[in-house]
Amino acid sequence: MAVIIDGKKVAAEIRHELKEKVEWLRSLNVRVPGLVTILVGDNPASLSYVTSKGKACNEIGMLSKIEKLSADTSEEELLKLIDSYNSNNDYDGILVQLPLPKHINEDKVIERIAPSKDVDGFHPISVGNLVIGKDTFYPCTPYGVVELLKRYKIETSGKHVVVVGRSNIVGKPVANLLLQKKEGANAVVTVCHSAAKDLSRFTKEADILIAAIGRPYFIKADMIKDGVAVIDVGINRVEDSTLPKGYKLVGDVDYEGVSKKASFITPVPGGVGPMTIAMLLQNTFLAYIKITKQKLS
Ligand code: GUN
Repeated sequence: MAVIIDGKKVAAEIRHELKEKVEWLRSLNVRVPGLVTILVGDNPASLSYVTSKGKACNEIGMLSKIEKLSADTSEEELLKLIDSYNSNNDYDGILVQLPLPKHINEDKVIERIAPSKDVDGFHPISVGNLVIGKDTFYPCTPYGVVELLKRYKIETSGKHVVVVGRSNIVGKPVANLLLQKKEGANAVVTVCHSAAKDLSRFTKEADILIAAIGRPYFIKADMIKDGVAVIDVGINRVEDSTLPKGYKLVGDVDYEGVSKKASFITPVPGGVGPMTIAMLLQNTFLAYIKITKQKLS
């Protein structure tokens, strides 16, 4: 049976480490890191994510603000608000919750965020720096995956990582992160996607398999080799009439079968999910350090 990777525990450790750092800053009577989260419209899932992000900031003593804008906010108004936070010295990180209403161009909005405050790591400058191995903000979920591998001492150097999924938020950045010639990376990486003729041919070769496809129970036991470490990034709702809410959350991996063959596995929920907010806090702290250092030099 596989070792279960406890993302909840690791995320709590990271939040605790950051809390101590923020408390230390408070004891010195200096400004603490701040994150502003901007939500446009009233998508309930987005509101819940934004609320959790704000709460997590408050719990570790960081400054946090949630800007809630109505669904009919114009693109120009949103861009102006971003400009105001780009030059607001109290906030080190700016996060615009996605998706945005259809009348707003997401790319334009992401590109308006100052790269020095891009704690989501979605700005093309951050993406480019990640690809060429320069110091930058890593997107939070891929960063969380790498951190889990590190903290569970799962060797990546020279190992074959197979990523299933090529999204800009998970698949592509996690592949690029693990490819870098750095500690905690240096892997041989294959990226597969829905157009693969025979996906199993690739997944069976993986020492580390990262599933980020967005399809419930997609990775089955007969698609992997014995001893693979499996990281399940999927969060899918499947109907379950036995539960009061009528659904449950499951990953992209058929946990039941795969956990019998794998050496390590992340559960859903409680695996990668909790890491995303922890790494957002980490990025906000890093943004603060970079901005503060720049001011001192
Ligand atoms: N919507 C879903 N996930 C994310 C995320 O990581 N960042 C932002 N900005 N929006 C999201």
